[in-house]
Amino acid sequence: MCYTVLIEWLYVGQYCMPAEGVPLSARSALLSRAELARLARVFVAAGVDKVRLTGGEPTLRADLADVVRELREAGVRRVSLTTNGLVLTRRLPALQRAGLAAINVSLDSLRPDRYERMARRPGLARVLAGVDLALQLGYSPVKINVVLMRGFNDDEICDFVEYTRDRDVEVRFIEFMPFSGNKWDDSKLVPYREALRAVFQRHPHAEPAPPRENDTARVWRVPGYAGSVGFISSMTQHFCSTCNRLRLTADGNLKVCLFGAAEVSLRDQLRAGADDAELTALVRAALHNKKARHAGTNAQTHHNIAPMHYNINFGLI
Ligand code: GTP
Ligand code: 5AD
Repeated sequence: MCYTVLIEWLYVGQYCMPAEGVPLSARSALLSRAELARLARVFVAAGVDKVRLTGGEPTLRADLADVVRELREAGVRRVSLTTNGLVLTRRLPALQRAGLAAINVSLDSLRPDRYERMARRPGLARVLAGVDLALQLGYSPVKINVVLMRGFNDDEICDFVEYTRDRDVEVRFIEFMPFSGNKWDDSKLVPYREALRAVFQRHPHAEPAPPRENDTARVWRVPGYAGSVGFISSMTQHFCSTCNRLRLTADGNLKVCLFGAAEVSLRDQLRAGADDAELTALVRAALHNKKARHAGTNAQTHHNIAPMHYNINFGLI
């Protein structure tokens, strides 16, 4: 199995980030770019072929294109980005030149007022222009992450499906997950079956696409539409047994599960002088642990997990 590493940065969004913000990590606590590049080599040696730069908000880093280039130079086959999309029109050409392979845009509403409420600023038009630019530059498909929340955006399911009619986008409806501090409760959760039913009611001829290995989403196509619609059922039907993801927090903790605690601080080991062989052994041990634990675990029982913005890479922005 090939593994993916997700490298976390600051995310700005209402269900994920409290309005008052979060404590910022000291710059020295965070991995430097050189440390990141070295760890990337170690990951590649341990069988990782893909790195996703994810929430937080990676585009807050001015040197993001350099990070992408250095990850590629370290041997990572595919570097991808999950972003709020606000600065894609300005930043994407350089990111593409640096070797960025794929883009996922977090976008929970197609209505300007709701978008503004959620993101705490206007910007929907910029995000949509960013998606269009990504399509023009050949990203195929551009994935759109829509966290469904009852009473907030569950009436937009069909609007999002229409958005896929003429665009090579994969809209992925994601079940709202509990992270400490995000005011989750199960009345806000829209189970994936309910979202799928809403799609079917409007498009009875929608068909499932062939499953892709280690995919988080089940994908459906509406005949005649350029794009597709996916469902990420992290809450009602978790996919732990096929999960191939590791997470590296901005301060260098390796986690084998989004819902789990840190396995080991690679930063501390690296700064204590560990050589590449020792670091590779630590990563391999974590992977071994992951395989053992994830053969059927229900990760969703952990409700006090750290939010996705847990580590803030502010010093490097
Ligand atoms: P692809 O590489 O395009 O498949 O991206 P992805 O779906 O892995 O990553 P993305 O950053 O777009 O995350 C979208 C959603 O996938 C998140 O909101 C989560 O619901 C889910 N997800 C991503 N990584 C994990 C993980 O490690 N564990 C669990 N349970 N869910 C995850
Ligand atoms: N539940 C589900 N998905 C979430 N994301 C952020 N917070 C949550 C949550 N509470 C998604 C965002 C982003 C991706 C990294 O995770 O949509 O695209």
